[in-house]
Amino acid sequence: MAGPGMFLDAAERMSGAELAALQLDRLRATLAHAYAHVDFYRRSFDAAGTRPEDCRSLADLARFPFTTKADLRDHYPFGMFAVPQDEVRRLHASSGTTGTPTVVGYTERDLDTWADVVARSIRAAGGRPGHKVHVAYGYGLFTGGLGAHYGAERLGCTVIPASGGMTARQVRLIQDFRPKIIMVTPTYMLTLLDEFERQGVDPRSTSLRVGIFGAEPWTDAMRREIEERFALDAVDIYGLSEVMGPGVAQECVETKDGPHIWEDHFYPEIVDPVTGEVLPEGAHGELVLTSLTKEAMPVVRYRTRDLTRLLPGTARPAFRRMERITGRCDDMIILRGVNLFPAQIEEIVLRVAGVAPHFQLRLTREGRMDHLTVRAEARPEATPHQRAAATVEIAGRVKDAVGVSVAVEIVDPGTLERSVGKLKRIVDLRGGSRP
Ligand code: DLL
Repeated sequence: MAGPGMFLDAAERMSGAELAALQLDRLRATLAHAYAHVDFYRRSFDAAGTRPEDCRSLADLARFPFTTKADLRDHYPFGMFAVPQDEVRRLHASSGTTGTPTVVGYTERDLDTWADVVARSIRAAGGRPGHKVHVAYGYGLFTGGLGAHYGAERLGCTVIPASGGMTARQVRLIQDFRPKIIMVTPTYMLTLLDEFERQGVDPRSTSLRVGIFGAEPWTDAMRREIEERFALDAVDIYGLSEVMGPGVAQECVETKDGPHIWEDHFYPEIVDPVTGEVLPEGAHGELVLTSLTKEAMPVVRYRTRDLTRLLPGTARPAFRRMERITGRCDDMIILRGVNLFPAQIEEIVLRVAGVAPHFQLRLTREGRMDHLTVRAEARPEATPHQRAAATVEIAGRVKDAVGVSVAVEIVDPGTLERSVGKLKRIVDLRGGSRP
């Protein structure tokens, strides 16, 4: 059998020095392009007293100002575009849960780059030309569906553009079309799992051998659950609309040790989320990304709000890896002064006997005190004794691991709302302004 090396593209074979030289060239071109064509960048670079030509090394990037989601919103819809409108071939937009959506644009060449990085991602996950790929990320303004779609076609796969929803039909399609690969959010994969079982089909009997999961945080505990229940390899894909969409980083199936960032197109930094100071290699902080090849909407030092750290490359030695995302700055729950992420609860809940991988975090306020209730579903076969024991065990493990007391409620199977895409884990019933 051919080893993975046979399938690597030219950039994946680069030495560290070759990659750094390419990155610097591309970075300087990106800064010049952004400065020349986007008012926002001209103003923000001028205000910081930096010019594109001041960037003489990759470390000089730290002298340039950040770009935030608020900056993109303030320039809604097309104010961040760096090319004339007739060169924009596609628009996508983020959901805009907090109001104005963020709009992103792609030139012909951007779409080409995107298809290339997603093709490379699917290949790193174990996909090969000729494989069938079931895409259950939503199609539409969300980048998941179309991003996965064109990448799979670029690799030479057969795409099944299922999109999200109509779960019973998805199960039917998977049985009839026999795809080897599925691309879907991890929580929607759990919804599919329920549906296989409801239809009396053993999920381990399907043709699926690789799952490429992303668009929301998930843990190694969830990886084990999905791999065991479906008998497949589960790998992590990372991306965000503002920077491109899926395919900014991808975990390699042979190592399953966190996504490699496709650094020939996206340059990562880790900064202190509060002070913005660049942190040393290996430190935990907020991921900041700069696009190196984007034409329609270059982004310079974009604050992702995603928390992770950079690690050396393994299966793709030239590219650094990012540790699986532990959470977003925005998803952090501050409970009586203690910081808590849903992923920490996921690690715990999925280890407890008799509990299904479905849980919700409910925040309430009594007086001036915030309370967190972990609502987790019992597995159908769980005994009343197991359910009672699970309540105590989850509360105890959360107290040990995080240091706060939470209430735990074990609810009946099928009680909690199921995901069709990105799942909302936190239900905040506190109302009013936060202290
Ligand atoms: O979710 C793009 C995407 C689609 C990635 C399909 C992977 C697969 P947005 O809707 O703009 O784009 O949301 C981006 O989702 O900043 C992270 O907070 C989160 N996210 C994406 N991938 C992962 C992941 C798409 N693998 C936001 N692990 C990002 C954890 C992820 N969080």
